Amino acid sequence: MKSIFFTGKGGVGKSTLAATAAYQLAERGHKVLAVSFDPAHNLGDIFGLTLSHKKQKFGKNLFLQETDLDKAAAEYIEKNIDILNQIYSYTKAFNLDLYFKVLKHSPGVEEYAALTAMETIFRQETDYDYIIFDTPPTGLTLRILALPNITITWVDRLKRIRKQILEKRHTIHSLTGKYSEEGFVLAYKESDDGVMKTLDDLWKRYLAVYKTLKGPDNRIAVVFNPDYLSFRETERIIEGLKDLQIPLAVGFNNKFTDDRAEAADEVESKIREKSRDIVIHRVPLHPPMKEGAYKNPFDVAGTFF
Ligand SMILES: Nc1ncnc2c1ncn2[C@@H]1O[C@H](COP(=O)(O)OP(=O)(O)OP(=O)(O)O)[C@@H](O)[C@H]1O
Ligand SMILES: [Mg+2]
Repeated sequence: MKSIFFTGKGGVGKSTLAATAAYQLAERGHKVLAVSFDPAHNLGDIFGLTLSHKKQKFGKNLFLQETDLDKAAAEYIEKNIDILNQIYSYTKAFNLDLYFKVLKHSPGVEEYAALTAMETIFRQETDYDYIIFDTPPTGLTLRILALPNITITWVDRLKRIRKQILEKRHTIHSLTGKYSEEGFVLAYKESDDGVMKTLDDLWKRYLAVYKTLKGPDNRIAVVFNPDYLSFRETERIIEGLKDLQIPLAVGFNNKFTDDRAEAADEVESKIREKSRDIVIHRVPLHPPMKEGAYKNPFDVAGTFF
Protein backbone atom coordinates (compact mmCIF):
# COMPACT_ATOMS: atom_id res chain seq x y z
CA MET A 1 0.00 0.00 0.00
CA LYS A 2 1.34 3.40 -1.02
CA SER A 3 0.10 6.77 0.18
CA ILE A 4 0.22 10.28 -1.25
CA PHE A 5 -0.62 13.53 0.54
CA PHE A 6 -1.48 16.68 -1.42
CA THR A 7 -0.64 19.82 0.54
CA GLY A 8 -0.46 23.51 -0.33
CA LYS A 9 -2.08 26.90 0.07
CA GLY A 10 -5.82 27.39 -0.31
CA GLY A 11 -7.07 27.31 -3.89
CA VAL A 12 -3.81 26.19 -5.55
CA GLY A 13 -5.35 22.94 -6.86
CA LYS A 14 -4.81 20.28 -4.16
CA SER A 15 -8.25 18.71 -4.55
CA THR A 16 -8.07 18.85 -8.36
CA LEU A 17 -4.67 17.14 -8.50
CA ALA A 18 -5.56 14.63 -5.76
CA ALA A 19 -8.69 13.72 -7.75
CA THR A 20 -6.69 13.51 -10.99
CA ALA A 21 -4.01 11.29 -9.44
CA ALA A 22 -6.66 9.02 -7.90
CA TYR A 23 -8.61 8.76 -11.16
CA GLN A 24 -5.53 8.10 -13.30
CA LEU A 25 -4.12 5.45 -10.94
CA ALA A 26 -7.51 3.70 -10.87
CA GLU A 27 -7.68 3.85 -14.70
CA ARG A 28 -4.31 2.06 -14.76
CA GLY A 29 -5.84 -0.81 -12.83
CA HIS A 30 -4.76 0.07 -9.29
CA LYS A 31 -7.21 -0.10 -6.43
CA VAL A 32 -7.36 3.43 -5.05
CA LEU A 33 -8.91 5.11 -2.03
CA ALA A 34 -9.11 8.91 -2.11
CA VAL A 35 -9.77 10.52 1.26
CA SER A 36 -10.69 14.13 1.81
CA PHE A 37 -10.15 15.98 5.10
CA ASP A 38 -11.43 19.09 3.37
CA PRO A 39 -14.55 20.56 5.00
CA ALA A 40 -15.46 22.35 1.72
CA HIS A 41 -16.49 19.03 0.05
CA ASN A 42 -14.38 19.82 -3.05
CA LEU A 43 -13.35 16.24 -3.74
CA GLY A 44 -17.00 15.16 -3.86
CA ASP A 45 -17.88 18.09 -6.11
CA ILE A 46 -15.11 17.16 -8.55
CA PHE A 47 -16.59 13.66 -8.93
CA GLY A 48 -20.18 14.92 -8.81
CA LEU A 49 -20.89 13.00 -5.60
CA THR A 50 -21.85 13.79 -2.02
CA LEU A 51 -19.16 12.08 0.02
CA SER A 52 -19.31 10.87 3.60
CA HIS A 53 -17.24 8.66 5.90
CA LYS A 54 -18.74 5.67 4.05
CA LYS A 55 -16.71 4.78 0.99
CA GLN A 56 -18.35 5.36 -2.39
CA LYS A 57 -17.31 3.60 -5.52
CA PHE A 58 -16.46 5.57 -8.65
CA GLY A 59 -15.86 3.37 -11.67
CA LYS A 60 -14.19 0.01 -11.21
CA ASN A 61 -11.23 0.69 -8.95
CA LEU A 62 -11.71 4.05 -7.28
CA PHE A 63 -13.25 4.56 -3.84
CA LEU A 64 -13.95 7.95 -2.32
CA GLN A 65 -14.44 9.01 1.26
CA GLU A 66 -14.68 12.25 3.23
CA THR A 67 -13.79 12.64 6.88
CA ASP A 68 -15.83 15.36 8.55
CA LEU A 69 -13.26 16.67 11.05
CA ASP A 70 -15.88 18.34 13.30
CA LYS A 71 -17.79 15.09 13.56
CA ALA A 72 -14.60 13.09 13.99
CA ALA A 73 -13.56 15.47 16.80
CA ALA A 74 -16.91 14.99 18.60
CA GLU A 75 -16.61 11.20 18.25
CA TYR A 76 -13.00 11.32 19.43
CA ILE A 77 -14.06 13.14 22.61
CA GLU A 78 -16.99 10.77 23.25
CA LYS A 79 -14.69 7.78 22.93
CA ASN A 80 -12.09 9.26 25.24
CA ILE A 81 -14.69 10.22 27.83
CA ASP A 82 -15.81 6.59 27.88
CA ILE A 83 -12.24 5.41 28.34
CA LEU A 84 -11.58 7.90 31.13
CA ASN A 85 -14.84 6.97 32.85
CA GLN A 86 -13.82 3.31 32.80
CA ILE A 87 -10.29 3.97 33.99
CA TYR A 88 -11.33 6.25 36.86
CA SER A 89 -14.58 4.50 37.77
CA TYR A 90 -13.10 3.66 41.18
CA THR A 91 -12.54 7.23 42.22
CA LYS A 92 -14.56 10.42 42.43
CA ALA A 93 -11.48 12.45 43.34
CA PHE A 94 -11.37 14.20 39.96
CA ASN A 95 -14.22 16.36 38.79
CA LEU A 96 -14.43 14.51 35.46
CA ASP A 97 -17.69 16.10 34.30
CA LEU A 98 -16.19 19.55 34.47
CA TYR A 99 -13.08 18.32 32.68
CA PHE A 100 -15.17 16.80 29.86
CA LYS A 101 -17.05 20.07 29.35
CA VAL A 102 -13.75 21.89 28.82
CA LEU A 103 -12.24 19.11 26.71
CA LYS A 104 -14.55 19.95 23.81
CA HIS A 105 -12.84 23.33 23.44
CA SER A 106 -9.34 22.06 23.92
CA PRO A 107 -6.80 22.94 21.23
CA GLY A 108 -5.57 19.92 19.36
CA VAL A 109 -8.79 17.91 19.40
CA GLU A 110 -9.39 18.38 15.68
CA GLU A 111 -5.80 17.36 14.92
CA TYR A 112 -6.08 14.23 17.07
CA ALA A 113 -9.38 13.37 15.42
CA ALA A 114 -7.73 13.68 12.00
CA LEU A 115 -4.77 11.62 13.12
CA THR A 116 -7.08 8.95 14.52
CA ALA A 117 -8.94 8.85 11.19
CA MET A 118 -5.63 8.58 9.32
CA GLU A 119 -4.33 5.86 11.64
CA THR A 120 -7.53 3.84 11.16
CA ILE A 121 -7.27 4.17 7.38
CA PHE A 122 -3.61 3.07 7.32
CA ARG A 123 -4.37 0.10 9.60
CA GLN A 124 -7.62 -1.07 8.01
CA GLU A 125 -7.39 -0.25 4.32
CA THR A 126 -4.40 -2.41 3.51
CA ASP A 127 -5.92 -3.96 0.40
CA TYR A 128 -5.71 -0.67 -1.52
CA ASP A 129 -2.73 -0.12 -3.80
CA TYR A 130 -2.88 3.65 -3.22
CA ILE A 131 -4.42 5.90 -0.60
CA ILE A 132 -4.59 9.54 -1.57
CA PHE A 133 -5.19 12.30 0.96
CA ASP A 134 -6.60 15.69 0.08
CA THR A 135 -5.49 17.69 3.11
CA PRO A 136 -6.86 20.68 5.07
CA PRO A 137 -5.00 24.04 5.29
CA THR A 138 -1.23 23.90 5.78
CA GLY A 139 -1.06 24.70 9.50
CA LEU A 140 -3.54 21.99 10.41
CA THR A 141 -1.87 19.46 8.09
CA LEU A 142 1.56 20.10 9.58
CA ARG A 143 0.16 19.74 13.09
CA ILE A 144 -1.52 16.46 12.11
CA LEU A 145 1.74 15.16 10.63
CA ALA A 146 3.64 16.24 13.77
CA LEU A 147 1.31 14.45 16.16
CA PRO A 148 2.55 10.84 15.85
CA ASN A 149 6.04 11.91 16.91
CA ILE A 150 4.78 14.13 19.75
CA THR A 151 2.41 11.42 20.93
CA ILE A 152 5.06 8.69 20.97
CA THR A 153 7.25 10.92 23.17
CA TRP A 154 4.35 11.63 25.54
CA VAL A 155 3.17 8.04 25.69
CA ASP A 156 6.74 6.94 26.47
CA ARG A 157 6.79 9.33 29.43
CA LEU A 158 3.33 8.20 30.59
CA LYS A 159 4.39 4.56 30.37
CA ARG A 160 7.35 5.27 32.63
CA ILE A 161 5.12 7.04 35.17
CA ARG A 162 2.61 4.18 35.01
CA LYS A 163 5.41 1.70 35.60
CA GLN A 164 6.40 3.58 38.76
CA ILE A 165 2.78 3.55 39.99
CA LEU A 166 2.54 -0.19 39.40
CA GLU A 167 5.85 -0.78 41.20
CA LYS A 168 4.54 1.14 44.22
CA ARG A 169 1.29 -0.83 44.13
CA HIS A 170 3.33 -3.99 43.94
CA THR A 171 5.26 -3.01 47.06
CA ILE A 172 2.03 -2.28 48.95
CA HIS A 173 0.56 -5.54 47.70
CA SER A 174 3.61 -7.46 48.93
CA LEU A 175 3.29 -5.81 52.35
CA THR A 176 -0.47 -6.06 52.82
CA GLY A 177 -1.35 -9.03 50.62
CA LYS A 178 -3.76 -6.89 48.54
CA TYR A 179 -3.66 -3.37 47.19
CA SER A 180 -7.10 -1.83 47.13
CA GLU A 181 -8.70 1.57 47.29
CA GLU A 182 -12.30 2.07 48.40
CA GLY A 183 -12.92 -1.62 47.99
CA PHE A 184 -11.50 -1.96 44.45
CA VAL A 185 -8.59 -4.28 43.93
CA LEU A 186 -6.22 -2.50 41.58
CA ALA A 187 -3.79 -4.10 39.17
CA TYR A 188 -0.19 -4.13 40.26
CA LYS A 189 1.24 -6.21 37.41
CA GLU A 190 1.86 -4.61 34.02
CA SER A 191 0.18 -7.52 32.26
CA ASP A 192 -3.07 -6.98 34.26
CA ASP A 193 -3.15 -3.21 34.00
CA GLY A 194 -5.70 -1.72 31.58
CA VAL A 195 -3.98 1.67 31.55
CA MET A 196 -0.64 0.14 30.57
CA LYS A 197 -2.36 -1.91 27.89
CA THR A 198 -4.04 1.22 26.47
CA LEU A 199 -0.72 3.09 26.51
CA ASP A 200 1.07 0.20 24.79
CA ASP A 201 -1.66 0.05 22.18
CA LEU A 202 -1.46 3.82 21.52
CA TRP A 203 2.31 3.65 21.32
CA LYS A 204 2.23 0.87 18.72
CA ARG A 205 -0.45 2.60 16.64
CA TYR A 206 1.26 5.98 16.51
CA LEU A 207 4.64 4.43 15.85
CA ALA A 208 3.13 2.64 12.86
CA VAL A 209 1.76 5.96 11.50
CA TYR A 210 5.10 7.67 12.14
CA LYS A 211 6.93 4.93 10.23
CA THR A 212 4.43 5.07 7.37
CA LEU A 213 4.75 8.85 7.01
CA LYS A 214 8.54 8.67 6.84
CA GLY A 215 8.71 5.43 4.93
CA PRO A 216 9.53 4.74 1.29
CA ASP A 217 5.89 4.11 0.33
CA ASN A 218 4.67 7.56 1.30
CA ARG A 219 4.92 10.72 -0.77
CA ILE A 220 4.12 14.27 0.27
CA ALA A 221 3.39 16.54 -2.65
CA VAL A 222 3.13 20.29 -2.44
CA VAL A 223 0.96 22.15 -4.91
CA PHE A 224 1.70 25.80 -5.64
CA ASN A 225 1.04 28.45 -8.26
CA PRO A 226 3.60 30.78 -9.76
CA ASP A 227 2.98 33.61 -7.31
CA TYR A 228 4.60 35.01 -4.18
CA LEU A 229 1.89 34.06 -1.68
CA SER A 230 1.79 30.44 -2.68
CA PHE A 231 5.61 30.38 -2.64
CA ARG A 232 5.58 31.68 0.96
CA GLU A 233 3.12 28.96 1.97
CA THR A 234 5.27 26.33 0.21
CA GLU A 235 8.25 27.64 2.17
CA ARG A 236 6.32 27.08 5.40
CA ILE A 237 5.48 23.53 4.33
CA ILE A 238 9.12 22.84 3.45
CA GLU A 239 10.33 24.17 6.81
CA GLY A 240 7.60 22.32 8.70
CA LEU A 241 8.35 19.01 7.01
CA LYS A 242 12.09 19.50 7.57
CA ASP A 243 11.45 19.92 11.30
CA LEU A 244 9.42 16.71 11.24
CA GLN A 245 12.08 14.97 9.14
CA ILE A 246 9.42 13.93 6.65
CA PRO A 247 10.70 14.12 3.07
CA LEU A 248 8.95 16.34 0.54
CA ALA A 249 9.13 14.44 -2.74
CA VAL A 250 7.10 16.22 -5.37
CA GLY A 251 6.05 19.77 -6.25
CA PHE A 252 3.34 20.73 -8.72
CA ASN A 253 3.60 24.17 -10.22
CA ASN A 254 -0.08 24.21 -11.08
CA LYS A 255 -2.02 26.52 -13.42
CA PHE A 256 1.13 27.18 -15.41
CA THR A 257 0.93 29.41 -18.49
CA ASP A 258 3.73 30.46 -20.84
CA ASP A 259 3.20 34.14 -20.08
CA ARG A 260 3.98 33.41 -16.42
CA ALA A 261 7.11 31.39 -17.21
CA GLU A 262 9.42 33.98 -15.66
CA ALA A 263 7.52 34.03 -12.35
CA ALA A 264 7.30 30.22 -12.47
CA ASP A 265 11.09 29.91 -12.97
CA GLU A 266 11.75 32.22 -10.04
CA VAL A 267 9.36 30.46 -7.68
CA GLU A 268 10.67 27.03 -8.69
CA SER A 269 14.32 27.98 -8.20
CA LYS A 270 13.53 29.42 -4.75
CA ILE A 271 11.71 26.20 -3.84
CA ARG A 272 14.65 24.07 -5.07
CA GLU A 273 17.02 26.15 -2.95
CA LYS A 274 14.93 25.27 0.11
CA SER A 275 14.26 21.66 -0.77
CA ARG A 276 17.07 20.11 -2.79
CA ASP A 277 15.49 16.70 -3.41
CA ILE A 278 12.13 17.94 -4.65
CA VAL A 279 11.07 17.06 -8.20
CA ILE A 280 8.88 19.81 -9.66
CA HIS A 281 6.33 19.32 -12.44
CA ARG A 282 4.53 22.07 -14.30
CA VAL A 283 0.83 21.48 -14.70
CA PRO A 284 -0.68 23.75 -17.35
CA LEU A 285 -3.73 25.88 -16.75
CA HIS A 286 -6.49 24.07 -18.55
CA PRO A 287 -9.60 25.68 -20.06
CA PRO A 288 -12.80 25.39 -18.00
CA MET A 289 -14.00 21.79 -18.11
CA LYS A 290 -17.61 20.76 -18.63
CA GLU A 291 -17.01 17.39 -17.02
CA GLY A 292 -15.17 16.61 -13.79
CA ALA A 293 -11.79 18.18 -13.30
CA TYR A 294 -10.40 14.71 -12.46
CA LYS A 295 -10.05 14.37 -16.24
CA ASN A 296 -7.16 16.86 -16.15
CA PRO A 297 -5.03 15.80 -19.14
CA PHE A 298 -1.71 16.16 -17.26
CA ASP A 299 -0.23 12.82 -16.14
CA VAL A 300 -0.26 13.44 -12.39
CA ALA A 301 -0.22 9.75 -11.41
CA GLY A 302 2.94 9.09 -13.42
CA THR A 303 4.93 11.55 -11.29
CA PHE A 304 4.81 9.30 -8.21
CA PHE A 305 6.85 6.18 -7.43
N1 LIG B 1 -4.53 23.17 -13.81
C1 LIG B 1 -5.66 23.88 -13.64
N2 LIG B 1 -6.19 24.60 -14.65
C2 LIG B 1 -7.30 25.31 -14.50
N3 LIG B 1 -7.98 25.41 -13.35
C3 LIG B 1 -7.52 24.73 -12.29
C4 LIG B 1 -6.33 23.90 -12.37
N4 LIG B 1 -6.12 23.36 -11.14
C5 LIG B 1 -7.12 23.78 -10.36
N5 LIG B 1 -7.95 24.61 -11.03
C6 LIG B 1 -9.14 25.32 -10.50
O1 LIG B 1 -8.73 26.11 -9.39
C7 LIG B 1 -9.73 26.13 -8.38
C8 LIG B 1 -9.16 25.64 -7.06
O2 LIG B 1 -8.78 24.29 -7.20
P1 LIG B 1 -8.94 23.24 -6.01
O3 LIG B 1 -10.28 23.31 -5.40
O4 LIG B 1 -8.45 21.95 -6.53
O5 LIG B 1 -7.86 23.87 -5.02
P2 LIG B 1 -7.57 23.46 -3.50
O6 LIG B 1 -6.12 23.73 -3.29
O7 LIG B 1 -8.05 22.11 -3.22
O8 LIG B 1 -8.42 24.53 -2.73
P3 LIG B 1 -8.86 24.52 -1.17
O9 LIG B 1 -7.65 25.01 -0.43
O10 LIG B 1 -10.00 25.47 -1.13
O11 LIG B 1 -9.21 23.12 -0.80
C9 LIG B 1 -10.85 25.28 -8.91
O12 LIG B 1 -11.79 26.10 -9.52
C10 LIG B 1 -10.19 24.37 -9.94
O13 LIG B 1 -11.06 23.94 -10.95
MG1 LIG C 1 -9.42 21.42 -1.74
